[in-house]
Amino acid sequence: MSLKEAATAVRENAHAPYSNFKVGAAIRGASGKIYAGCNVENVAYPEGTCAEAGAIAAMVAAGETRLIEAYVIAGSPTPVTPCGGCRQKLAEFADGDVRVTLATTGGIEQVTTIADLLPGVFNAGHMAS
Ligand code: THU
Repeated sequence: MSLKEAATAVRENAHAPYSNFKVGAAIRGASGKIYAGCNVENVAYPEGTCAEAGAIAAMVAAGETRLIEAYVIAGSPTPVTPCGGCRQKLAEFADGDVRVTLATTGGIEQVTTIADLLPGVFNAGHMAS
C-alpha cells in the first residue's frame, strides 16, 4: 500500500462532526512501515486532534521515532496544509529534507519538505546552555 492509499483510506474514519473536514495522514517510518491517522474532533473543541498527530502517535507507539516521508490529504480546494503545531510535531521525528506531500481528494498534490513547512524550527539546540 502507498502512503497516498493509506492516507486516503484512514481519512474515511475521521471523526469530524463539528468541522465536517476530514483529514487523513500517513507517514513512513525509517523501517519502511506505514502509520496512519485521522483527525478526531471532540465536542469540547480544543480537545480535538489532527490527523498528523494520530499518525505520529501510532508510529511512536509501534516503537519507531524517525519518519522518512509523509502524506496528508483532505477534501479541500487546495492542498491541505498542516497546522503550526503539527509542523512542530512532524519536525520532532524527521530531518528537514523529508518529503511531505499535501493533497486534495480531487487529485491535486503539492510536494514540500519539513524544513520548508517550518523554517526556524525550535529544536534541542535552543536549550543548550
Ligand atoms: N486538521 C488536520 O487534522 N490536519 C491538518 O493538516 C489541518 C487541519 C483538522 C483539525 C480539525 O479537526 C479540522 O481539520 C478542521 O480544522
